[in-house]
Amino acid sequence: MAALAGAALAMGALAACGGGGDEPADDTSTTEEAPPADDAGDVEEEPADEAPPAANPADTLVGITMPARSLERWNRDGAKLQELLDGMGYQTDLQYAENEPETQVSQLENQINAGAKILVVASIDSESLAPVLQTARDEGVIIIAYDRLLMNTPNVDYYATFDNAGVGAMQGEYLAETLELETAEGPIYFEAFAGSDDDNNAGLFFGGAWDVLQPYLESGVLECASGKCPASKEQWTDVAIHAWDTAAAQDEMETRLNSFYTDNKVQAVLSPNDSLALGIAQALDSAGYVVGEDYPLLTGQDGDEANVKNIIAGKQSMTVFKDTRLLAAAVADLVNQLASGTAATTNASYNNDIQDVPTVQLDPVVVTADSVQTILVDSDFYTAEQLGL
Ligand code: BGC
Repeated sequence: MAALAGAALAMGALAACGGGGDEPADDTSTTEEAPPADDAGDVEEEPADEAPPAANPADTLVGITMPARSLERWNRDGAKLQELLDGMGYQTDLQYAENEPETQVSQLENQINAGAKILVVASIDSESLAPVLQTARDEGVIIIAYDRLLMNTPNVDYYATFDNAGVGAMQGEYLAETLELETAEGPIYFEAFAGSDDDNNAGLFFGGAWDVLQPYLESGVLECASGKCPASKEQWTDVAIHAWDTAAAQDEMETRLNSFYTDNKVQAVLSPNDSLALGIAQALDSAGYVVGEDYPLLTGQDGDEANVKNIIAGKQSMTVFKDTRLLAAAVADLVNQLASGTAATTNASYNNDIQDVPTVQLDPVVVTADSVQTILVDSDFYTAEQLGL
């Protein structure tokens, strides 16, 4: 409720600043619509009587801050969201912080000083944003967490994301089914990685996967020769790779292969996303693993171009695809609803250790070599030429 009250206050401030009565254009005709609410929960709408009158989009600056250009997906997210909001007539400012939390703080300060009425934040280290989010709240700015939840703050009004635990569950289930862990005797040599220690999503991904895989480690069907696999999902930071860094994942995998896999071959690797999977695959290549002979199963997430090519080449088994076009469209809708004073539609809720944040949650999908064409090419996410098909 704190979030809703905050949002209502912020919307009031926005309407007062915007001062116009024009309806924003809602023509997103060439873009995908967010999917209907799923089984994550019932669709909830803010009571209409809390909604203030519409603000004029042309007078409304929306600040968008993304973590880094170096990770492919954020380029797509930022560009799509900006394109949609520009098309609706909003003023936008899009910034990337190259994974430096202090840079992101300055960018948010600049956006607040420039009069932003709504901030869409994909955070690097959300806890470091607490003071600047308080400033935003004091100025009556609406704050939307994009993909990554803003933790430990009362100053976040909405969250839009994909089902994060669901991503991990898909990775774990993929390994369990492909390796037939239910009936396998083992030991099947297995290694696990987690994402950045400062990203709330990373713990959710790992937890979703560990719920599926941990019983097989306990029963001895899976064997983690490095001994690094955490005893519980709560200890996921033991295998975290800070800043989701490809080179750090490669180093860590090389260390494990050199130290613990001189006699046995690793047969499966849980990688939480594609940037890590890329480094892990490079380490496997250097260690002499060969596709079609002894290359292990390797998971991923995002559907980055290099990883999809690796999937086609047999160097990565799957990726969990989160269509950035859908997330951007969902957030553009949310911005438009909040700015125009109509009820905000959400279908889930995430707790940020202080409050339940009303959330728009979308469904991810598994992509394997068999479904690259139907899911990624037929939907125009990639052209066949880009992927060398
Ligand atoms: C996102 C992933 C992404 C990772 C690294 C996470 O917060 O949910 O899609 O792979 O950050 O950028």
